[in-house]
Amino acid sequence: MPRLFAGGVSGLSVGLCLVILSHPAGATGPFQAPAVLPDAPGKAVVERICLGCHGAEVIVPARTLPVWRETLELMKGFGAVATDEEWTTVHTYVFSNLAALNVNRASADDFAALFLLDASAATSVVAHREKSGGFRTIDDLKKAPGLDAARVDAAKDRLSF
Ligand code: HEC
Repeated sequence: MPRLFAGGVSGLSVGLCLVILSHPAGATGPFQAPAVLPDAPGKAVVERICLGCHGAEVIVPARTLPVWRETLELMKGFGAVATDEEWTTVHTYVFSNLAALNVNRASADDFAALFLLDASAATSVVAHREKSGGFRTIDDLKKAPGLDAARVDAAKDRLSF
């Protein structure tokens, strides 16, 4: 086993990091391009707080918004350190740029987090969904009052119906 971590790393975190390194998803080919976090406000804060223990390739794969909520709590438990303000930035960045969402099951809170809406706009999106019998396509979603079409397009690979 080559030496992957130099100095100052506890046995516990080396053990946990080895769990990541031995994960099958990490072994899909002889070369993997380094994963990059999307450019968006808050990226620098996320890089500073989140890349101390593992790389961006652990962070980038799509997870649903509820799973992301749990994952960020888990990272706190593992020892990720940030001020309250930085945590807010991390939550906003992760939810709006990385999280996946089923738009027919999402709560108003989920819409607010993914599309950066205020509570009343998010509530109207859900009300529109209930009234119209659900979203079938990206275009249905764009017609929901309060949802910005450009934001919907930017998130479309992460949305399911
Ligand atoms: C103190 C070290 C540490 C920091 C800082 C840290 N993580 Fe982690 N992270 C870990 C460890 C250890 C694991 C592996 C745990 C496991 O395999 O379940 C992990 C795993 C993950 C995973 C994969 C979890 C899964 O279940 O698939 C994600 C996503 C993740 N981290 C995101 C983040 C984000 C976002 C941040 C910044 C807020 C962050 N991490 C900061 C230690 C850290």
